[in-house]
Amino acid sequence: MDNSVTVNPKGAEPYDIMIRLGFDDLCDALTSIFPPSCKICIISDINVSKLYGDELKSALYKSYKNVDLLELTLGEENKSLDTVSKCYTHLTGLKYGRNDVIIALGGGICGDISGFVASSYMRGISYVQVPTTLLSMVDSSSGGKTGVNFESYKNMIGAFKMPRLVYINTSVLNTLPDREYASGMAEVLKAGLIKDGSFYEWLINSFSEINERDTEIVTEMIARSIGIKKYYVEKDPYEKNERAILNFGHTVGHALEKYTDFKYSHGECVALGSVAAAYISWKKEYLSMEEFYEIRDMFVPFGLPISLEDIDTDRVIEYLKSDKKNTAEGIKFILLKKIGKGIISTDVTEEEIREAIGQINYVED
Ligand code: GLY
Repeated sequence: MDNSVTVNPKGAEPYDIMIRLGFDDLCDALTSIFPPSCKICIISDINVSKLYGDELKSALYKSYKNVDLLELTLGEENKSLDTVSKCYTHLTGLKYGRNDVIIALGGGICGDISGFVASSYMRGISYVQVPTTLLSMVDSSSGGKTGVNFESYKNMIGAFKMPRLVYINTSVLNTLPDREYASGMAEVLKAGLIKDGSFYEWLINSFSEINERDTEIVTEMIARSIGIKKYYVEKDPYEKNERAILNFGHTVGHALEKYTDFKYSHGECVALGSVAAAYISWKKEYLSMEEFYEIRDMFVPFGLPISLEDIDTDRVIEYLKSDKKNTAEGIKFILLKKIGKGIISTDVTEEEIREAIGQINYVED
């Protein structure tokens, strides 16, 4: 399998996504885009930079003399303008210019913040994504969505800014905690559910190799997930329409992230939100009952939740209504017309949503 793919988003510069087993050819890939005179600022989560910061820096020193590492404490609570401001202070302090480069080394939060900094610093500089979680490899590192949370709103301030390169070193998954690996699986399962039924079946049949993180299977899984992401990003880079299908499971999912005060991860909430969306798809007679239960139960072997205890439905609905993805027509929901075909729906009623939340609400007798 060729493990490089080029994304050609309409109206933006093409970029490659490379899937590798180390950092061996990252520097060569960079020099084909950026001259060695460029300064490179690696922005990373402190936990990730402890593990991979030095390795990445030495890989870059082969051609670049000015490489520095900005280590940040990153979590959902500091995915904020304050953190963005720290990055600007660092970049201005070291006199980074418009031709210099940012590398985001980390998971989705790191990539979203670094991308937003790159989109706004000096009216925009180049950035490269080096994702280190499964979730960021298969979803957030490609596609150019960047941003931070604002007040109680998730990803409210941001910009579309495509990376110049996405370099995936799958060997870093060996140190990823199980819970984070499972979180990424929610986005992988989502990709199959919305676009490719045979990929979804393959995931189900390969669950033990996937959970054992078998290199070959994981590489194939990442490549196939990225292929689906690429399809939507190329068609609709700025999410005017079809790209919204990638948000399957996210309508309820984002509300649950806020509801659980981010104690449940993004992927865990996407799994729960996917169960809710699949339930509505069944109630609208797009899916059969058997398909709904299969979808619901298949999150379990991948270590993902399918219910939460004692949900306060009113609060979840309140958060859901405040999501930025809603339009004037109402709450935007992604449903499944069948396994492998996601559709955008704006006619899901509040009653249907309440019923769907009831499905993931575990109440002890
Ligand atoms: N994570 C969904 C998207 O990039 O559109």
